[in-house]
Amino acid sequence: MKFLRFSDVCRSGFARGKRVFIRADLNVPMDDDGNITEDTRVRASIPAIRMALDAGAAVMVTSHLGRPTEGAFKIEDSLSPVARRLSDLLGIEVRLVSGWVDGGFAVGPGEVVLLENCRLNVGEKKNKPELAAKLGKLCDIFVHDAFGTAHRAEGTTYGIAETAPIACAGPLLAAEMDAIGKALAAPKRPLVAIVAGSKVSTKLTILQSLAKNVDGLIVGGGIANTFMLAAGLKIGKSLAEPDLLGEATAVIAAMKARGAEVPIPEDVVCAKAFAAD
Ligand code: 3PG
Repeated sequence: MKFLRFSDVCRSGFARGKRVFIRADLNVPMDDDGNITEDTRVRASIPAIRMALDAGAAVMVTSHLGRPTEGAFKIEDSLSPVARRLSDLLGIEVRLVSGWVDGGFAVGPGEVVLLENCRLNVGEKKNKPELAAKLGKLCDIFVHDAFGTAHRAEGTTYGIAETAPIACAGPLLAAEMDAIGKALAAPKRPLVAIVAGSKVSTKLTILQSLAKNVDGLIVGGGIANTFMLAAGLKIGKSLAEPDLLGEATAVIAAMKARGAEVPIPEDVVCAKAFAAD
């Protein structure tokens, strides 16, 4: 797949002294005391940040954490524990900056600041043009490295890519795009895709495209419920999208016509609460 890579931008020397804005996915689980209970995503963000530092850039990093109400800060929405973890991992102080949308904060070459939870900014979720315009002015180079959030068209994942002078893919996103490009262009067979999530509607085009190529399509999460409904099974009050039964049936039929299949779950476990037991 052809796209601009941050590694190439750095290699060209262009990032030296430039303001680099990295959108990472630092949406990590925390306990009630604000301790990070699993830090894979923080560790996965380090190569892009180091790349920017090594290239001599002034580095801004942001992420969402949870799904807070825009414009209404609550302490549990803060990326402050993530700033501490990043400082430990990088071995330099990573300052947390709040109220950053209009700029006015200092960050120089060789420094890293973490910009507070981007979903607190009004207009982030709906990718409002006024917000996107401000985001683009904050940087010389926008680096998208938030693979886990790349499916969302929000201010810091999409709007800023249109308004920043340069937009490119960070190493984490680039590796995923390379992997999926390879898997779809020249796959080893049988090729199986596993797709989960709560809604068919947000992944319909992906499911339709996969249905043309894969030998098996395993659906999970709420998506599986919609497919179970389409297969004529009862799902009680489980989350599903009954208005998309036609589309789910069409995916099953398209796969069947090619000799491929969408296996439908045979065993289910029901509970009234989502709990470990
Ligand atoms: C995730 O944890 O799935 C990603 O960070 C995306 O989060 P979101 O579903 O709240 O957009």
